[in-house]
Amino acid sequence: VKVGVLGGGQLAQMMALAGFPLGIKVIALESTQDCPAGLVTDVVVGDYTDQQKLKELAEQVDVVTYEFENVDVPSVESIETPNVYPAPNALSISQDRILEKCFFDSISVPTAQYFPVDSVQDLQQAIEKIGLPAILKTRRFGYDGKGQFMIKAQEEIEQAFSELGAKNLIVEQKINFDREVSCIAVRAVSGETAFYDLVENVHVGGILRTSTVITENSNVNQLAKSYAEKVLTELNYVGVIAIEFFEVKGKLIANEMAPRVHNSGHWTIEGAVTSQFENHLRAILDLPLGSADTVGYPMMFNVISKHPEISEILKIPYAHCHVYGKQERQGRKLGHITLSAINSESLTQEVKLLGSLLKE
Ligand SMILES: Nc1ncnc2c1ncn2[C@@H]1O[C@H](COP(=O)(O)OP(=O)(O)O)[C@@H](O)[C@H]1O
Ligand SMILES: [Mg+2]
Repeated sequence: VKVGVLGGGQLAQMMALAGFPLGIKVIALESTQDCPAGLVTDVVVGDYTDQQKLKELAEQVDVVTYEFENVDVPSVESIETPNVYPAPNALSISQDRILEKCFFDSISVPTAQYFPVDSVQDLQQAIEKIGLPAILKTRRFGYDGKGQFMIKAQEEIEQAFSELGAKNLIVEQKINFDREVSCIAVRAVSGETAFYDLVENVHVGGILRTSTVITENSNVNQLAKSYAEKVLTELNYVGVIAIEFFEVKGKLIANEMAPRVHNSGHWTIEGAVTSQFENHLRAILDLPLGSADTVGYPMMFNVISKHPEISEILKIPYAHCHVYGKQERQGRKLGHITLSAINSESLTQEVKLLGSLLKE
C-alpha cells in the first residue's frame, strides 16, 4: 500500500515512519530530495503546482494526502485518481482565516469577535467595536505567528495596516485566555472517529514550545471533543485534524484549525495507544482506527534553533528524542522530545531535568 504526501518535511517523515510497520509506504512530493522525508523514504522531486509531478505521484499511490495546509487547492483538485484526503473543502476553509471563522460560526463553535479589513477605515471601525488590544492578521499564509500585528494603541493602526500589506486582512479581538489548548481528532473513510485528549500549548514568539496532555476528564476535554465532532461531521472529513482553542473560564473559543497532522499532536507517538500519524494513515486508507487513549502523563518539547546534546537528553529515562535531520537556523523546528512519565510527580521532575538541557 502506498500513500502520496504533498510535502516532505518532518510531518511526512513521521508519517513514513508510522506507516512502515504496517507495510504502508509513504512517497513524498517535495522540491528537493534533501528534506526530512527524504531521509526515510522516496521523494518525487518537484513543485506541488507542477501538474506533471502531481500526476507522477498520483499514479504510484493508493491515496494522496498533504502535510501542510497551504498547498494550492486547484492543484489538489486536479488529481482525479486516487482519492485525496482530507478533501479540498477543508483546505480552502483553513487557508483563509475569514472563511475559517465563518465556518465555526455556522456550526455554533464560538470564536473571537472579528472583522474583515481591506482599508484603514475598515480597521478603525472594527476597533471601535472590538476595542484594544486587537490582533491584525493576514487572511492567508500566516504560520508560527507570522503575518500578525498586535495593536495596542490607536496610533499603531496605520502602521499595522501598512506592515501587513494593506489588504486581505482580518482583525480579531485579543482574547485574554487562561490557557491555549488544542484538540487532535481523526475521522476515517468509514465515518469512524477518535479523539485524543486535549493538550495545553505554550507558544513563545508565535512558535509552539510545549504541549502538555490534559489527562483529567475535565469539562473542557468534553467540550473540545463535542466541537471537534461537529467540525468533522460538517466537513465530512477524512484524516487527522487539529483545532486550536483559547480556554477562558472553562469555555473554549476556537482560534484556527489545520487539516493535517499537527505539531501539538507529536506527543501521541509515545503518549497515546495509536499515534496521530498512524491514525491519519489508517483513516485515509479506510482501515479501522486505533485507540486514541493517552498512555501515562506525556509532555512534548519542541527543539528549536539549536540541536541539543542527545547523549544528555537520553540520561532522562522517560525521554524520547526525535531529530528531523534539518540544518540549524534561528526559529526553526529541528526536532522534539516527548517525556512520558508514569505519574504527574515524575513528570515534574523530568521537566526540570530537561529544562536545563534545551539550549535555545
Ligand atoms: N485573537 C487572539 N487573542 C489572543 N491571542 C491570539 C489571538 N490570535 C492569535 N493569538 C496568539 O498568537 C498565536 C498564533 O496565532 P494563530 O492564529 O494561531 O496563527 P498561526 O497560524 O501563526 O499559528 C496564538 O497561538 C496565540 O498565542
Ligand atoms: Mg496557530
